[in-house]
Parts: sequence; C-alpha cells; structure tokens
Amino acid sequence: MVLTQDRIVADLKSLGVRSGDVLMLHSSLRSLGYVVGAAATVVDALLEILGSAGTLVGPSFNYETAQAPDFVFDPLNTPSDMGAIADEIRRRAGNARSRHLTHSVSAIGRHAETIVTAGGKSAWSMDGPLGAVFKLDGRFLLLGVTYQSFTAFHLLEVAFRLRFRKIDTLRRRLRRPDGSLIPFDSTVYLRDVGYPGYDFNRAGQAMEDAGVTSVAPVGNAVARLIPARPMREFASPRVQRDPDYLLQRGSCVTPLSHGVTLPLRTGVLSVVDPRGVFQARRP
Ligand SMILES: CC(C)(COP(=O)(O)OP(=O)(O)OC[C@H]1O[C@@H](n2cnc3c(N)ncnc32)[C@H](O)[C@@H]1OP(=O)(O)O)[C@@H](O)C(=O)NCCC(=O)NCCS
Repeated sequence: MVLTQDRIVADLKSLGVRSGDVLMLHSSLRSLGYVVGAAATVVDALLEILGSAGTLVGPSFNYETAQAPDFVFDPLNTPSDMGAIADEIRRRAGNARSRHLTHSVSAIGRHAETIVTAGGKSAWSMDGPLGAVFKLDGRFLLLGVTYQSFTAFHLLEVAFRLRFRKIDTLRRRLRRPDGSLIPFDSTVYLRDVGYPGYDFNRAGQAMEDAGVTSVAPVGNAVARLIPARPMREFASPRVQRDPDYLLQRGSCVTPLSHGVTLPLRTGVLSVVDPRGVFQARRP
C-alpha cells in the first residue's frame, strides 16, 4: 500500500477528523503502509484538515532517557520517544512544548499556547496539558496503535487515586533558551509493588461497543477517534464502581474486535493487514 497526503486526508475525514478540532495523537508510522514523505506527510495531512482554527497535539514523552541521572531536559531538542510522527510534531512545534521531564506534549495551532502552558499538579492531572485537551472539548486519535497507548486513561488513574500508583519527584536539570542549565523537578507516577499492568484495551473495547469511539482504516492502520469528554463520562463511573477497571487481569490484555493486534519489538500495533505494515520485522 502506497499512501499519499491526499489519501491520508480522505481517510482521516472519513474517520471523522474535522477542521477546527483539538486533536491529540498516538501513532505508529509503519502501521499505515508505505507513506510517501514518511512522518512529515502524515503531519501535513493532519494540519491540512485541522486548518488554522485547529490544534494538533503530540506526546513528546521521553520517560526512558529521563532516567539517566545526568539527563538534561532541553525543550527545543530532547526528542520524543513516542514515534516518528510524534517527533515530527515536536520538531515543528519548537518551543510550544510543555515543561515536564518525562511527559511533555508539543502543540501546533490555535490552542497550542493554552495547552503547553497549562502546568498543573502533574502531567496526568486534569489541570495539566492533557486536561486542557478535555477542557477544550478535544479528541484523541489512535493511529495504528491500541488503547494501551491511550495516555488519557492515566488521568483517570490519578483523578480516582487508583491503587498501585505512587507519587514521586524526579529531579534533573532544564536547559534554558540561553543555554544555561537550572535544576528542574517534575511530579511522576511510579508503579507500586504488585502492579499487575494496565488493560486499557478493556475500557477501550467497551467504549467502542457503546459507540463512543469511531473506528475506521487510515491506509493499513486501524484508527480510533475518541472524544475526550464523552470518554471521561463513560469511563469515570466505571472506574468509581470498580477501582481495578483499568488493570490487567490474568496474563493478557483484552483483544480488540477491530483489526489485527500485532506485537512487534518496537510496540503494539493495530492494523488491517499485518502484511501491509511497512518493513515489518520478521520474528
Ligand atoms: C513504539 C511505536 C512508536 C512504534 O511504532 P513504529 O511504527 O514501529 O515506529 P514509528 O512510528 O517511530 O515509525 C518508524 C518506523 O516507520 C517505518 N517507516 C520508515 N519510513 C516509512 C514510510 N515512508 N512509510 C511508512 N513507514 C515508514 C520504519 O519501519 C520505521 O522504523 P525503523 O526506523 O525502526 O525502521 C508505536 O508502537 C507506539 O507505541 N506508538 C504510540 C506511542 C505513544 O504515544 N504512547 C503513549 C504513552 S504509553
């Protein structure tokens, strides 16, 4: 499958992405099939649809590199570890990146400033940048990835003080625009002893069954569009009733009814056809 910008635009519009949306993306480039122009074309396609009234938000998370004791968070240069498309958003957004050692986001467009400067008690609290996506009535796009990549569910873990999460402070340094380094702290949530892992697919599948999530292919990727507020209205009472609602039971996470879930060395993809994944690594 060879994908051009026009085809990606057409598929995203069929899924329901609209001009003026506030859209946060979690993605896998290779799930789409071969994209002419790679990640830049996907970002161009998204920006073409969103237009000047819209806002594109990417996860610029770098939680593994931040573990090194001498790590310096450089908002202009620290790469996003959340894939090629997320890193393309990060590069284009430049300084429009929230300040967090492990869970910053980058944003382009009308509400970019509001989102990246939201601050908040932590990256996962409703008064932070992801919370701003909720307040702005935004939507989340899972492009070729499963609900296991759906960070917004972590906000519910924090909002409802779920078990197995403990708060800590990570202390590192921040590079300022003039190059100087200053001490910089961020609140982080660690997994506590006995944490069984999360099964966000269970809640995600339930949202799909209830019609909260829209599902459609974008090229070879299975894409899921999730409106932030309805997602919260759907999941919050369930988490309140069952504090283990988001946790894994048994050895596997819930299989999804749309698409093929493909565990690769680099991550878990959600695709129409495993043979269409670009340069899929053979086991
Ligand atoms: C980890 C993850 C990014 C891996 O997905 P991926 O498609 O393998 O990787 P990327 O999106 O970075 O895309 C790079 C890959 O695209 C492929 N690629 C290169 N050019 C391409 C093109 N023109 N067209 C299509 N694919 C191409 C390559 O296989 C490349 O991998 P390689 O450099 O190792 O060969 C993905 O599984 C994931 O988890 N994404 C969500 C991350 C997230 O937001 N998480 C939230 C917090 S938990």
